[in-house]
Order: sequence, then C-alpha cells, then structure tokens
Amino acid sequence: MATTITAPQQACVSTPTRMLINNEWLPSASGKTFATLNPATGEELAQVAEADSADVDTAVAAARQALESGAWRRISPAERGRFLTRLADLMEQDADEIARLETLDNGMPFSVARMVAVPLTVSLFRYYAGWADKNHGKTIPMGGEYFCYTRHEPVGVVGQITPWNFPLLMYGMKLPPALAMGNTVVLKPAEQTPLTALRIGELAIQAGFPPGVINILPGYGPTAGAALANHPDVDKIAFTGSTEVGHSIMEASGRTNLKRVSLELGGKSPNIVFADADMEQAIEGCHQGLFFNQGQACCAGSRLFVEDRVYDQFVEKSVARAKSRTVGDPFDAATEQGPQVDATQFNRVMSYIDIGKQEGAELLTGGCRVGNNGYFIEPTVFANVKDDMKIAREEIFGPVMSILKFHNIEEVVARANNTSYGLAAAVWTRDLGKAHAIANNVKAGTVWVNCFEVFDAAAPFGGFKQSGIGREMGEYALQLYTEVKTVIMKH
Ligand code: NAI
Ligand code: MG
Repeated sequence: MATTITAPQQACVSTPTRMLINNEWLPSASGKTFATLNPATGEELAQVAEADSADVDTAVAAARQALESGAWRRISPAERGRFLTRLADLMEQDADEIARLETLDNGMPFSVARMVAVPLTVSLFRYYAGWADKNHGKTIPMGGEYFCYTRHEPVGVVGQITPWNFPLLMYGMKLPPALAMGNTVVLKPAEQTPLTALRIGELAIQAGFPPGVINILPGYGPTAGAALANHPDVDKIAFTGSTEVGHSIMEASGRTNLKRVSLELGGKSPNIVFADADMEQAIEGCHQGLFFNQGQACCAGSRLFVEDRVYDQFVEKSVARAKSRTVGDPFDAATEQGPQVDATQFNRVMSYIDIGKQEGAELLTGGCRVGNNGYFIEPTVFANVKDDMKIAREEIFGPVMSILKFHNIEEVVARANNTSYGLAAAVWTRDLGKAHAIANNVKAGTVWVNCFEVFDAAAPFGGFKQSGIGREMGEYALQLYTEVKTVIMKH
C-alpha cells in the first residue's frame, strides 16, 4: 500500500514507503522504519521500512521462486524486452514527479534530475530491452561426430546494492541488463535515498512484471546490505559504492558461495590540460567535470593536472568560474549546485578542506558552509596541490577542486597512474598525438578527450585497479548477468 509523503516546500509527492517483495508492499519483519531526509533543509521526508536479514531471506526466497518457477526466465526474450520498454514508457510519463522525488531525496538540482538522470535512466531501460532477444550464443566447430553450441543463461538471483549519489541512474545501470538476461533481482537502495527506487517498484508492478522478479528492500548497509552479500542463495552481487565496502563484498562472496561479484567503486580521476588546449572549453569542462552533482561523482576529475606554461592563467580563470557557480535551492532553475547528501558527507568534505589547508595547499576560493540549513558547501579550489597530499590521493566526493602542475607527457602519465584507482581520465588538447598518448597509457576504464562525463547507454563504464571489476552499460554488461553453458552433442 502506498503512503502519501508530503514535501512542505514542493508539490505533494506520493510514493510507497514500504518494502516491495513479491509485488506486495510490506512492513519490515521487525516493524522498524528509518527516516530519509531532504538534504536541502535537513528535514524528514518520510519514514521508510527498514529491511534487515529476515526481510532479505523473504525477498531472496521470492526471487528464487520467480526464477525457478520459470515465471520470468521462460517467457520469451522478446516479451521480457517488452516489460522493460513498458517500464521505460511509464518512467518517461512520470518524469517530472520522479525527478522531483530524486531532488527532494538526494539534493541534486532539479534541472539535473529532469534533464540528465531521468532521461539517461529511461534510455538504459530501452537499450537493454533491445538486447533481451539478441543475447546470442555461438555454434562452435568441433569436427568429428560432435556438435557444440553455447547458451547464455541467467546467473540466477541477483543482489544489487547501490549508492546515493545518482540513485536513479544506478537502477538504470543495474536492473535492466539483469532483467533482460532473465535474472530476478533483490535491490537494496542506499539508505540516504530510497524513494525513487520505491517509485520504480510501483511502476514495475504497473508494467506487469510478475511477482518476485523485482524486489526492493530499503535498509542500511551493515544490516540489509551485508545480509544480501552473505546470502548463500544469492548467485551474484552487483555493487556500486566505496572501495572499502567493495572489499567486504568480495570477502563475503569468498566466505559463502563464491557468488559472482561486479563492483563499481571510487576514483581519483586525472584530468589533464595541455597548454595547446582550447582554454575556454577546458576551463568550463574541468569545472563541470569536478563540481557536477556537488562533486559527488565517482568519476569526478579530482586530480586536475595543468601544464606549467598555462598554469597561472588556468588557475585564475577556474577560481573565477568557481566563484560564479550558483549554490542554493535545488528547485530554483538558476541553481547549479545543491546540498551534499547528508551530514556525514558534509562533515567528511569539510574535514578534507581542513586537511588541504593543513597540508599547505593554497585555498583560493570557498572552503565554507553556505547558509545555516541543509548541507551546502561553497565551490572550493586549491592550487599548488602536491601528489603526496591527502587531498590529491583520497576521494573527497565533494565540491573541492585540486589543481596540480606538470611539465611534460611522460611525467604526467606516470603521475596520473600513481594511484590505486583507475575509473576515468580526461585530456584537453588540440594535438592528436597527446590525446592518443593519454588515451593509450593512462590506466582507466574511460578516457574522455576534450569532454568530460559524457555517458551513453551503449558506452561501457567501469574501473581498472581498485575502481572496480566488470563493465556496466553497453553490451559488455550482458556478461555480468549471464553464465555461458557449453553443450556438446554427438550426432
Ligand atoms: P558505502 O559504500 O558505505 O555505501 C554504498 C552502498 O553500500 C549503500 O547502499 C550502503 O547501504 C551499502 N553498504 C554499506 N556497507 C555495506 C556492507 N557492509 N555490506 C553491504 N552493503 C553495504 O558508501 P558511503 O558510506 O555512502 O560513502 C562513503 C564514500 O564512498 C563516499 O564519500 C565516496 O568517497 C564513496 N562512494 C563512492 C561511490 C561511487 O559511485 N563509486 C558512491 C557512494 C560513495
Ligand atoms: Mg534523503
């Protein structure tokens, strides 16, 4: 049953606040609920059912039943695709309200939720709807009296654990490839931002998904999340979040049933500006590449390397651009930057700003809280940042730009790679040779040339090194959700 929640400053939104298991809206077994807040005000938006291990057991059993009964995997692949298309259509029809809910719960500017998050999520559902009936195996020449072919079968019951920074987009990256390939899903959204997941659950019922195919359990990481990661009847976990929790997901898999694990973790992505770049384009691109989504992006260009010949000029203009960034009410159309997601993240970012000052980086603008309500932070720029400073090594996940100086390609490639992360990188140059040198030699899952944070449903995304395992989006993601079966037949 849906409960109405009211956001005081905005039009009314109504969305379910219970867990979704077997197409039913249930309270948690313990009866416990938790608050989700509006980060722009710090006020409570709703009390949401708090799942724990008993609920995970129930949801996994429902997903198992939906899988084994054939309710999902044995319907025709084309029909599975049509379910996803119907859900995409419903999300598109509901785009304004979904975007509003995302902004209320997460704090991202409404313009970003409505123009970026919702359309990209919808496009992912459509993209994988198209793949549902194109997941071909191979016929393999063996000679003699044997015939060999492969089948791409679903992995089984999939647990998906997602973070709060782009809630909707995470559901777009995770649900459709799993469902298109015939798996059933138990999704645990981040505790900071459970509301749009529940809305999608409501639309999934409307789209006609059979019971147990999509189960959604709001709850905390160390309880509900860990129960899913440790569950012996879960065949795979797809996780996005911190590198630390990524390690614990791998350990849980090793301790239990060797469930398949795909991870999309943090980053400290190098963003490299050569002196020959179009400076105006580079300054704006690097600004957006760091400050987009309040700096809460795993691929943020948070190590900004600028060639020494243009360093002073670049720093001066980047500071001016940061000063002009509009911070405030995420529902105001002029707002470029909303609040950080919660008090924990706010405090974490502020402590990195203190560390940067103590380490001797030069704070040129920002560094303070904005206003007294909510979790807003001034766009902050540090110059003369050195490679060994904490702010150049650790993921800050906030609106804090660190600008470093470099002299030549060999040096900047070595410094760019001197990190345990490898999620993304970018280069700004008019010289194709330099563009190729960076694209080929920086160890990162995505390299952008003269652009940043450009995404497409068809373009794979994921990390080298400790930024993750596996690729989401695009055709490569199908591998995360299929087991290859080899069949050898005697004529
Ligand atoms: P987190 O990794 O704790 O949370 C992400 C998800 O994992 C949430 O759904 C959470 O409930 C769940 N989780 C937490 N502990 C778990 C456990 N033991 N077992 C299973 N699931 C668990 O990240 P958090 O604390 O929200 O943010 C901390 C830092 O992580 C951020 O400051 C940022 O640096 C990084 N981060 C990176 C993200 C990315 O996109 N790669 C997204 C969110 C955070
Ligand atoms: Mg919230």
